[in-house]
Amino acid sequence: MSLKLRTKRFLFNSGIWYKLSLMRMVPSIFNWLKSGCTANAPHPVKMMVIESYLDRFSVTNFVETGTYLGETLGYIAGKSGVECISIELSSELHHRARQKFSKHRNVTLLEGDSGKRLPEVLERITTPTVFWLDGHYSSGITAQADDDTPISAELDAILRHPIGNHIILIDDARCFDGTNNYPYLDDLIEVIRANGRYTTEVSTDIIRLVPCLT
Ligand SMILES: C[S@@+](CC[C@H](N)C(=O)[O-])C[C@H]1O[C@@H](n2cnc3c(N)ncnc32)[C@H](O)[C@@H]1O
Repeated sequence: MSLKLRTKRFLFNSGIWYKLSLMRMVPSIFNWLKSGCTANAPHPVKMMVIESYLDRFSVTNFVETGTYLGETLGYIAGKSGVECISIELSSELHHRARQKFSKHRNVTLLEGDSGKRLPEVLERITTPTVFWLDGHYSSGITAQADDDTPISAELDAILRHPIGNHIILIDDARCFDGTNNYPYLDDLIEVIRANGRYTTEVSTDIIRLVPCLT
């Protein structure tokens, strides 16, 4: 194995790789800030938002739907003491992630439709968890189930869970316009309000559900 590859593997397995990647993204973050934060937030900003919820609520469980290239997963798994589960529909992306995270003992990778697999994950969850709901079709190499997004089934399963103080972060708020199986944002908020256990805030393109009593 070449020195370059070995160095890259070391940086990745030690969690330093993602911190360095963030530095490369500084110009895009700066441009986003300059635009008044109107465009879709750069990916590192979203990763830091997730991290901030883990820290703020002292949560050590992270569940992601849609592993994709494992960027967010790698960043969060690099935090010490955080147990991670990620579900991916694409067989190829799932197997790529298996290789990438082979040395990470705190990462569990599941293959399949997260709308169907999340209930079985929830059955094993006994403490508050940060959910990053981001499993959806988005062209390119991403997989497509019968529906473009399993968000309604995912949210339904989490809202029914006996633990009512999870943190639920739903990516791509801009897509919730009633097309391609995405509910309208207003309808989604109504479902959350009817559940009564979470308050909703939408910011940086992320729908954020936090427990009411905090
Ligand atoms: C936007 S990417 C995820 C990015 C990743 N969460 C991150 O933050 O780096 C969406 C991923 O969801 C996957 N996907 C699509 N439909 C899915 C489904 N029903 N269940 C699970 N994953 C799905 C796609 O194959 C794709 O890899």
